[in-house]
Amino acid sequence: MTQTPYKLLFVCLGNICRSPSAENIMNYLVEQNHLQSQIECDSAGTGNYHVGNPPDRRMAAAAMRRGIQLVGRARQFQKSDFEAFDLILAMDQANYQDILALDPQGKYWHKVKLMCDFCNIHKDQEVPDPYYGGSEGFNYVIDLLLDACDGLMQYVEKQKQVL
Ligand code: 4NP
Repeated sequence: MTQTPYKLLFVCLGNICRSPSAENIMNYLVEQNHLQSQIECDSAGTGNYHVGNPPDRRMAAAAMRRGIQLVGRARQFQKSDFEAFDLILAMDQANYQDILALDPQGKYWHKVKLMCDFCNIHKDQEVPDPYYGGSEGFNYVIDLLLDACDGLMQYVEKQKQVL
Protein backbone atom coordinates (compact mmCIF):
# COMPACT_ATOMS: atom_id res chain seq x y z
CA MET A 1 0.00 0.00 0.00
CA THR A 2 1.16 3.54 -0.76
CA GLN A 3 1.49 6.11 2.01
CA THR A 4 -0.20 8.94 0.10
CA PRO A 5 -3.82 9.20 1.23
CA TYR A 6 -6.47 8.52 -1.38
CA LYS A 7 -8.55 11.68 -1.63
CA LEU A 8 -12.31 11.58 -2.13
CA LEU A 9 -14.52 14.58 -2.88
CA PHE A 10 -18.31 14.26 -2.57
CA VAL A 11 -20.33 16.77 -4.58
CA CYS A 12 -24.01 17.80 -4.61
CA LEU A 13 -25.77 21.09 -5.36
CA GLY A 14 -25.83 22.97 -2.06
CA ASN A 15 -23.23 21.06 0.01
CA ILE A 16 -25.60 21.14 2.99
CA CYS A 17 -27.53 17.84 2.58
CA ARG A 18 -26.25 14.95 0.46
CA SER A 19 -22.52 15.57 0.04
CA PRO A 20 -21.77 16.44 3.69
CA SER A 21 -23.70 13.29 4.63
CA ALA A 22 -21.60 11.23 2.22
CA GLU A 23 -18.39 12.82 3.56
CA ASN A 24 -19.26 12.17 7.20
CA ILE A 25 -20.59 8.65 6.59
CA MET A 26 -17.41 7.79 4.69
CA ASN A 27 -15.28 9.25 7.50
CA TYR A 28 -17.26 7.11 9.95
CA LEU A 29 -16.46 3.98 7.92
CA VAL A 30 -12.83 5.06 7.50
CA GLU A 31 -12.49 5.35 11.29
CA GLN A 32 -14.19 2.01 11.86
CA ASN A 33 -11.65 0.43 9.50
CA HIS A 34 -8.69 2.38 10.99
CA LEU A 35 -7.87 3.88 7.58
CA GLN A 36 -7.59 7.55 8.63
CA SER A 37 -4.02 7.78 7.33
CA GLN A 38 -5.00 6.29 3.98
CA ILE A 39 -8.32 7.85 2.95
CA GLU A 40 -9.25 11.55 3.15
CA CYS A 41 -12.71 12.94 2.49
CA ASP A 42 -14.10 16.37 1.68
CA SER A 43 -17.31 17.69 0.11
CA ALA A 44 -18.44 20.63 -2.02
CA GLY A 45 -21.46 22.01 -3.87
CA THR A 46 -21.73 22.96 -7.53
CA GLY A 47 -23.83 25.97 -6.40
CA ASN A 48 -22.78 28.82 -4.11
CA TYR A 49 -26.08 29.60 -2.33
CA HIS A 50 -25.10 28.00 0.97
CA VAL A 51 -21.35 28.67 1.13
CA GLY A 52 -20.21 28.84 4.76
CA ASN A 53 -23.36 27.20 6.11
CA PRO A 54 -23.40 24.10 8.34
CA PRO A 55 -25.24 20.94 7.20
CA ASP A 56 -29.05 21.21 6.99
CA ARG A 57 -30.68 20.52 10.39
CA ARG A 58 -33.08 17.94 8.95
CA MET A 59 -30.19 16.10 7.31
CA ALA A 60 -28.14 16.20 10.50
CA ALA A 61 -31.09 14.76 12.45
CA ALA A 62 -31.45 11.89 9.97
CA ALA A 63 -27.72 11.13 10.19
CA MET A 64 -27.86 11.24 13.98
CA ARG A 65 -30.63 8.63 13.94
CA ARG A 66 -27.97 6.33 12.43
CA GLY A 67 -25.37 7.47 14.98
CA ILE A 68 -23.46 9.74 12.61
CA GLN A 69 -22.75 13.39 13.40
CA LEU A 70 -22.55 15.79 10.47
CA VAL A 71 -19.76 18.37 10.69
CA GLY A 72 -18.34 20.87 8.21
CA ARG A 73 -19.22 24.04 6.34
CA ALA A 74 -20.42 24.36 2.75
CA ARG A 75 -18.01 25.38 0.04
CA GLN A 76 -18.31 25.57 -3.74
CA PHE A 77 -16.60 23.10 -6.06
CA GLN A 78 -13.61 24.71 -7.78
CA LYS A 79 -11.53 23.76 -10.79
CA SER A 80 -8.45 23.09 -8.61
CA ASP A 81 -10.41 20.20 -7.04
CA PHE A 82 -9.88 18.20 -10.24
CA GLU A 83 -6.15 18.09 -9.54
CA ALA A 84 -6.41 17.86 -5.75
CA PHE A 85 -8.66 14.77 -5.53
CA ASP A 86 -8.31 11.21 -6.77
CA LEU A 87 -12.04 10.58 -7.11
CA ILE A 88 -14.98 12.99 -7.36
CA LEU A 89 -18.39 11.53 -6.49
CA ALA A 90 -21.44 13.28 -7.90
CA MET A 91 -24.76 12.72 -6.12
CA ASP A 92 -26.96 13.09 -9.22
CA GLN A 93 -26.80 13.53 -12.99
CA ALA A 94 -27.10 17.32 -12.81
CA ASN A 95 -24.15 17.51 -10.40
CA TYR A 96 -22.21 15.14 -12.67
CA GLN A 97 -22.82 17.24 -15.79
CA ASP A 98 -22.08 20.50 -13.95
CA ILE A 99 -18.73 19.11 -12.79
CA LEU A 100 -17.78 17.85 -16.28
CA ALA A 101 -18.71 21.24 -17.76
CA LEU A 102 -15.95 22.85 -15.68
CA ASP A 103 -13.40 20.69 -17.52
CA PRO A 104 -14.32 21.21 -21.20
CA GLN A 105 -11.25 19.35 -22.45
CA GLY A 106 -12.14 16.24 -20.45
CA LYS A 107 -8.72 15.96 -18.82
CA TYR A 108 -10.20 14.87 -15.49
CA TRP A 109 -13.44 13.19 -16.53
CA HIS A 110 -12.02 9.80 -15.57
CA LYS A 111 -11.98 10.97 -11.95
CA VAL A 112 -15.69 11.84 -11.85
CA LYS A 113 -18.23 9.12 -10.99
CA LEU A 114 -21.82 8.84 -9.82
CA MET A 115 -22.15 7.95 -6.14
CA CYS A 116 -24.87 5.37 -6.80
CA ASP A 117 -22.51 3.38 -9.04
CA PHE A 118 -21.06 2.04 -5.77
CA CYS A 119 -24.34 0.83 -4.25
CA ASN A 120 -24.56 -2.92 -3.66
CA ILE A 121 -28.13 -3.09 -2.33
CA HIS A 122 -30.04 -0.12 -3.76
CA LYS A 123 -30.92 0.11 -7.44
CA ASP A 124 -31.14 3.94 -7.55
CA GLN A 125 -29.13 5.74 -10.23
CA GLU A 126 -28.97 9.00 -8.25
CA VAL A 127 -29.07 10.20 -4.65
CA PRO A 128 -32.40 12.10 -4.62
CA ASP A 129 -32.40 15.73 -3.52
CA PRO A 130 -34.27 15.71 -0.15
CA TYR A 131 -34.34 19.51 0.31
CA TYR A 132 -38.01 20.18 -0.49
CA GLY A 133 -39.43 16.95 0.92
CA GLY A 134 -40.26 15.40 4.29
CA SER A 135 -38.16 13.58 6.86
CA GLU A 136 -38.51 10.20 5.12
CA GLY A 137 -36.53 11.64 2.18
CA PHE A 138 -33.65 12.54 4.49
CA ASN A 139 -33.74 9.09 6.12
CA TYR A 140 -33.64 7.50 2.68
CA VAL A 141 -30.60 9.55 1.65
CA ILE A 142 -28.70 8.30 4.72
CA ASP A 143 -29.54 4.64 4.03
CA LEU A 144 -28.64 4.99 0.34
CA LEU A 145 -25.34 6.66 1.21
CA LEU A 146 -24.48 4.00 3.81
CA ASP A 147 -24.84 1.43 1.01
CA ALA A 148 -22.84 3.51 -1.51
CA CYS A 149 -20.07 4.37 0.98
CA ASP A 150 -19.71 0.72 1.87
CA GLY A 151 -19.22 -0.16 -1.82
CA LEU A 152 -16.93 2.82 -2.27
CA MET A 153 -14.77 1.61 0.60
CA GLN A 154 -14.33 -1.74 -1.13
CA TYR A 155 -13.45 0.04 -4.40
CA VAL A 156 -10.89 2.38 -2.78
CA GLU A 157 -9.20 -0.50 -0.97
CA LYS A 158 -8.79 -2.28 -4.32
CA GLN A 159 -7.56 0.92 -6.03
CA LYS A 160 -4.94 1.50 -3.37
CA GLN A 161 -3.57 -1.99 -3.92
CA VAL A 162 -2.91 -1.31 -7.61
CA LEU A 163 -1.57 2.27 -7.18
P1 4NP B 1 -27.93 19.29 -1.43
O1 4NP B 1 -29.44 19.78 -1.20
O2 4NP B 1 -27.57 19.63 -2.86
O3 4NP B 1 -28.01 17.85 -1.17
O4 4NP B 1 -27.09 20.07 -0.42
C1 4NP B 1 -29.92 21.04 -1.56
C2 4NP B 1 -29.67 22.12 -0.74
C3 4NP B 1 -30.16 23.36 -1.07
C4 4NP B 1 -30.92 23.51 -2.22
C5 4NP B 1 -31.16 22.42 -3.04
C6 4NP B 1 -30.66 21.18 -2.70
N1 4NP B 1 -31.45 24.78 -2.54
O5 4NP B 1 -32.19 24.85 -3.54
O6 4NP B 1 -31.20 25.75 -1.85
